[in-house]
Amino acid sequence: MAEIKAILMVLLAITIGVFANDADMLQDVCVADLTSATLVNGFVCKNSTLASAEDFFFGGIAQPLPITNKILNSIVTNVNVEKVPGLNTLGVSMARIDYGPGGLNPPHIHPRATEIIFVLTGQLNVGFITTKNVLISKTLNAGEVFVFPRGLVHFQKNPSKSYPASVIAGFNSQLPGTQQFAASLFTAKPPVPNEVLTQAFNIDSYLVDNIRAGLTPKA
Ligand SMILES: *[C@@H]1O[C@H](CO)[C@@H](O)[C@H](O)[C@H]1NC(C)=O
Repeated sequence: MAEIKAILMVLLAITIGVFANDADMLQDVCVADLTSATLVNGFVCKNSTLASAEDFFFGGIAQPLPITNKILNSIVTNVNVEKVPGLNTLGVSMARIDYGPGGLNPPHIHPRATEIIFVLTGQLNVGFITTKNVLISKTLNAGEVFVFPRGLVHFQKNPSKSYPASVIAGFNSQLPGTQQFAASLFTAKPPVPNEVLTQAFNIDSYLVDNIRAGLTPKA
């Protein structure tokens, strides 16, 4: 009886382990056919005899990238299955994040991946918040690594007034997904009703309108 229980526990643990990440691959390569109209969990494979090195390559994060967002003063360059079709079914991806002086990667979550970052240049104040509402935070310097567990709110802020910063991030999903809290709540289309936001944040409606206006890109 005890043995059966133990076996069931192990099976449960394995099952949870398998389903806590991207689905396992069933062939060597499954280069995404990003143009296919067929929708599956991931992307349809293109004919593997047509797979080439280009499907597994990306040259776009060698240099710091131009920052266009003047409010956040940061830019995320994703290197996921949408950029590297060969990542389809492999369960990993990367990103490069560049921060100007004072730049912020604002509070957000990745619904499908844990993230591990390596600081290339500069200094960053980073943190994540547990479901117990505890902030786990640290100041990182170049060469150091930090982990943000899957699904938890996290951020990175460049504290320097003069120097940029940059990181390389790794994810255990081909397409981690990103949901920024401020943007999701205040710039969703159609809009989240004011009565939801006033009550959730315990603020007046004019403040909701102000936040919305501040986050909406000027035409
Ligand atoms: C894949 O491509 C090869 C070479 O063009 C072709 O011979 C083969 O029939 C294709 N397979 C499928 C399933 O379309």
